[in-house]
Amino acid sequence: MRMRKVKWATDYLPTANCLVKEPSKQAGNWKKLMGTDTLHIEIGCGKGNYSLDMAKMYKDNGFIAIEKNESAAGIAAKKYDEDTDDKHLKLIQDDASSIGEWFGPREVDVIHLNFSDPWPKKRYAKRRLSSASFLDQYKRILSRNGEIQMKTDNSALFEYSLIEFQNAGFKMVEVSVDYRREKHDEDAITEYEQKFISLGQPIYRCVWRYMHD
Ligand SMILES: C[S@@+](CC[C@H](N)C(=O)[O-])C[C@H]1O[C@@H](n2cnc3c(N)ncnc32)[C@H](O)[C@@H]1O
Repeated sequence: MRMRKVKWATDYLPTANCLVKEPSKQAGNWKKLMGTDTLHIEIGCGKGNYSLDMAKMYKDNGFIAIEKNESAAGIAAKKYDEDTDDKHLKLIQDDASSIGEWFGPREVDVIHLNFSDPWPKKRYAKRRLSSASFLDQYKRILSRNGEIQMKTDNSALFEYSLIEFQNAGFKMVEVSVDYRREKHDEDAITEYEQKFISLGQPIYRCVWRYMHD
């Protein structure tokens, strides 16, 4: 679903406290910047609730939310600035297609992919956040015991992703085809997830690790 343009976002974003403007300049330095030993990133955070809720739940962990859409990122930035003055929650407003340049080798402990756009047409498959070129970059930036946690409502994207992860050499450590049948209070509910839960639709979830040599 296309998001309605939020006019104030263009002016607000460059002034936002939580915004990191040139992420590649922080490569290798994120944990120091955030004052943490454990770094999470969420790619495609939308309006930002998930990382905000997780940052409140896990105060010792650093969270970096990434969103390319200016309007959604503007809403997330405002929430982050108003809700927390902690330095352990930051936002990058950009397309994650060059994410491998933003983080140093093995710098990231958890990558969250929440309800990523499915891009059902084959000609746009490269835009899926679980396609091979993204997975190659994730492998480089994930720490030794690092993991990717993926949730989706979309069974076609889920199936596609299972194959891509496996082909890229990741090992599955958890899988569920009805994740919210149990509550899972340890994991925040995203905006999209709430909609699907309200509709009674199952949430698919998988967790993957990459064993570095
Ligand atoms: C379907 S929405 C889900 C939003 C949120 N994760 C949730 O669960 O409520 C997917 C979001 O991912 C963002 N996105 C898609 N591809 C992206 C990319 N390459 N880099 C950054 N953001 C991306 C979109 O702009 C959109 O806001």
